[in-house]
Order: sequence, then C-alpha cells, then structure tokens
Amino acid sequence: MTGIYDDPWAYELACSFRDVAAEVDELTAWYGRHAGAPAGTVLELAAGPAEHAREFARRGSRATALDLNPTMCAYAAERAEQAGVALDVVQADMTDFALGRRFDLVITMLDSTSHLMTLDAFVAHLDRAAGHVAGGGLYVVEMSHPKDRLTDEPSVGTAWTVDRDGVHAAVRWGEPDDRLDPVTQIADDRVTMTITGNGAEPRVIRDVVPYRFWSATEVEAAVRLSGAFEIVARYGDFGDVALTDPAAWRMITLLRPRRTA
Ligand SMILES: C[S@@+](CC[C@H](N)C(=O)[O-])C[C@H]1O[C@@H](n2cnc3c(N)ncnc32)[C@H](O)[C@@H]1O
Repeated sequence: MTGIYDDPWAYELACSFRDVAAEVDELTAWYGRHAGAPAGTVLELAAGPAEHAREFARRGSRATALDLNPTMCAYAAERAEQAGVALDVVQADMTDFALGRRFDLVITMLDSTSHLMTLDAFVAHLDRAAGHVAGGGLYVVEMSHPKDRLTDEPSVGTAWTVDRDGVHAAVRWGEPDDRLDPVTQIADDRVTMTITGNGAEPRVIRDVVPYRFWSATEVEAAVRLSGAFEIVARYGDFGDVALTDPAAWRMITLLRPRRTA
C-alpha cells in the first residue's frame, strides 16, 4: 500500500487549504520581532513538499528542506526546480541530522512533530535543531492546538474538501473512533483521500498515520529537559492570537537557543 506521504502531490493537494504565503509573511514578521530581519537562511524540518521553504526561497532566502521520506525530498526538489527557485534538499531524520551549518530561521510546520513518538525523540530533535540555529536566530514549531485532542470541542474538523486546478479532493484525516492511547498518547489516525476531476477515474488513498499528541506543558518540559532552547513566545494562530484565546486553533512555539554563560 502506498501511504499518503509516498504521494507528495496528493499530500500537497490535501493541505492546500493553507495560505502558505500568508504564513510565511507571519513567520517573517515574528522573525523580525524576535530575532532580526530578514532571515537570510531558512531550514524547514520534516518539510514534506517544502511549501514554506520554497516560498522563502522565492523571496530570496537561501532555503533548505529536510525530510525522511525520499519521495517527498524528490518532489520538493522537482517543484523548486519547476518554479526556478534554489532549494537545497536533504534526506535525513529530524532527530539525527548534522548539516554542518546554522540557519537564521528553522521551522517545523503543520504538526510534523507528531511523528516524534517518545520524549527521548522530542528532546533529541530539539538538541539537533538547536545545533542548526544561528546565534540570535529562531526555531518556530507549529503544532495542533491541544484542545483538538483534549476536549470535546475541537477547533478543527477531521474532514474537509479542497479544489485545485480542476481536481476535487475529499480528505478525512482521522476517524471519530481514532482515539489516543491514554498511556502512550499515540493514535493511529486513519486517513482517506478521494480524488476526482479532470476526467480521470476517482482515486482513493487509504493510510494509517500514527500521531503522537504533545500537550503544551509537555512541550515546555521537553524544552527544559533539552536545555538547548528557551521559549520566546507562544501563539494560537498565525498572527497575534494568544494560545489561550478562544479563537486559537494552532499551538505555535517560538524558541531561541539558550545563551550559555
Ligand atoms: C504532516 S507532514 C508535514 C509536511 C510539512 N511540514 C508541511 O507543512 O506540509 C509530515 C512530514 O514529516 C516527515 N517525517 C516523519 N518523520 C520524520 C522524521 N523522523 N524526520 C524527518 N521527517 C519526518 C514525513 O515524511 C512527512 O513529509
């Protein structure tokens, strides 16, 4: 069976509800506010199709995308080439990589840290990321808002539709009875994507994507355990929405390398 991450075109289509340019605007504004502007070098971790890295590259940053999946890496490189933007692509594990250089801005978007299944993996990831952030730089981690998994009033639905270039897709990322294991905080999210349009036969992709839930306090604890970063700010959306605001629907943490005495 081919999984959703083995079909980067379909994955990118499923996530095309995002306004990547607007998100990059906000990442740039945060970088300006908390570090310095502009971010000359950007590293996107667990980047998948690397839409944000490509957008930074389009705007003139030297951008690098890292992902574990070789198909995702090839797709990111191909899309960058098609768009005529320079993108370095590295196939590596976000818990164990050494690129030999530092970046002004490091980002991990759309809950990719849910693929870190254990506290040790999360701390190893933070240690590696910190080793790649330049002095005065920033690491921005975007995750789901904890209310999605901890309350009966999630801020986002698990089913949505997207339309792009004559193609329609119905996406279901998680079924109502895909529950977190109360001990491991891992859910096996069942994913179904049905793609129709452009005169082609309907295509259905089915997958099971393990998801590790991280609470706000666990993220704080992992940051302290790592000791490599300090939390600069936390937001509940792209923009100045507090994590505790009723309108919050993301959990975005801004980290800077801890200064050693
Ligand atoms: C939900 S997708 C997000 C992709 C991208 N961040 C985005 O915003 O669209 C998760 C990505 O994480 C990658 N991934 C999973 N585990 C990883 C690991 N240990 N190291 C690097 N990438 C990983 C997957 O291959 C996949 O491309």
